[in-house]
Amino acid sequence: MPRRSQGTIPLLTLDPGAANPLYRQLADALRRAILEGRVAPGTRLPSTRSLADDLAVSRSTVVTAFEQLNAEGYLVSRVGSGTSVPGDLPVASAGPLPTGPGDGTAARPWAPPPPRPFRPGIPALDEFGRGPFGRMLRSVWRSPDAHALALTPPAGDPDLRVAVARHLRGSRNVRCSPEDVLVTFGAQEGLAVAFEAVAGPGREVWMEHPGYIGARHAAESVGARPVPVPLDEHGLDVAAGRRRWPDAVAAYVTPSHQFPTGCTLSLPRRLELLEWAAEGDRWIVEDDYDSEFRLAGRPLPALQGLDEAGRVVYVGTFSKSLAPSLRLGWIVVPEPLRSRALGLRLARAGAGSPWLQQALARFMEEGHFARHIRRTRRLYRARRAALAQAVATHLSPRGVVLREPTGAMHALLDLPPGLRAAAVARSARDREVEVLPLDYFAIPPDTDVGEALLLGFAGYDEAAIADGAARLARALDDVGEAPPH
Ligand SMILES: Cc1ncc(COP(=O)(O)O)c(C=O)c1O
Repeated sequence: MPRRSQGTIPLLTLDPGAANPLYRQLADALRRAILEGRVAPGTRLPSTRSLADDLAVSRSTVVTAFEQLNAEGYLVSRVGSGTSVPGDLPVASAGPLPTGPGDGTAARPWAPPPPRPFRPGIPALDEFGRGPFGRMLRSVWRSPDAHALALTPPAGDPDLRVAVARHLRGSRNVRCSPEDVLVTFGAQEGLAVAFEAVAGPGREVWMEHPGYIGARHAAESVGARPVPVPLDEHGLDVAAGRRRWPDAVAAYVTPSHQFPTGCTLSLPRRLELLEWAAEGDRWIVEDDYDSEFRLAGRPLPALQGLDEAGRVVYVGTFSKSLAPSLRLGWIVVPEPLRSRALGLRLARAGAGSPWLQQALARFMEEGHFARHIRRTRRLYRARRAALAQAVATHLSPRGVVLREPTGAMHALLDLPPGLRAAAVARSARDREVEVLPLDYFAIPPDTDVGEALLLGFAGYDEAAIADGAARLARALDDVGEAPPH
């Protein structure tokens, strides 16, 4: 029997028989109710205890769902005044759903707490902040062009499109000219535009399972239907996708460095996927989100560079290489989709700030971008070694296993039998450490991804990494000692 609750929040329906865990069902239902305005900004939520009673679920289910929404910026909790929807949450212009816990895209001016170990998706922000970007910004503002003070061209600043195209050709083997590049508000806008251009409402889009939740949200935001395709050691299992979802019109992949598992799509699989697309008039959305930071060997060339049939929309971002707050990324769009893609982004928000784009174009032209990548790559290598050391000291003795990270920004920890990743993540939060359970990245209706935690490490120095691992070890002990709910 579905469980229902009615109180200061609208009717919620949870299904204990569904494969999706109850806390996720509750978080999804509340998020949707907030975004749709059914729970207004400023609303105070019932206590976790009374909501748990109402829904006939355990209190920890409600606590986990609230924590999730807290991290995403949809809820705030204050000692003494309970949990509420931030009064300034801009739900009327909901825009893309958050790309991950703690990124705070949903709430302004409310901001998430400053990054702390091991929140994923955070690069070495102080390195970027200290660098020459400020000088570039000042020089652009000292002499802004007349056209910059009016509006940026809708596809983005021409110099930045030139610089991005050069970077992609040189380092990623992407086939493109500046005309193919659209500058976007981060990968998130690029993904939404791509999905809207290639997959209409109700059309199925293959998603890697587990996979990037921001892509899933982007597909849902344009009415498409994300469906799970499993991974194996070669990456996306194309044959399984064909069997299970034969009507899909597009596939979303992170071939260079699968998010979040870190595997790479093998060459035979790349060719198989390209063939699937070419034979059926289908599309591939390639998200090359952290390609600059492969630590082992040379970065793998992009899938787009192998595509003879022009079926790949290539998406990238400056969020990992520079800073997520820039909200700058790009899509490389095959010619037949270009005017549609441009129309879609004009209809949404236009082209964004010219100064930021011009400063970034100069930053790239003068070689600062390449230097910054080289420097941070060295730094991340040291931080990755610090993580391995800290895990060996604090966590291996507790049966935790670090999967050798292939990239430079995040890693997975497998938990010993009997420990639930969601419970550890909850307990870690009490110890002021942020980790995400791998099942956060499950693509419904599939759920089972094992009990593992995702840890970002690139944004934290070696001392913070060691301290975070020690705290995480204590959090594991707390869970081991706590009576089961
Ligand atoms: C797979 C993947 N794609 C893209 C992004 C970056 O998105 P954006 O450019 O919108 O910040 C992330 C960040 O977490 C990611 O993990």
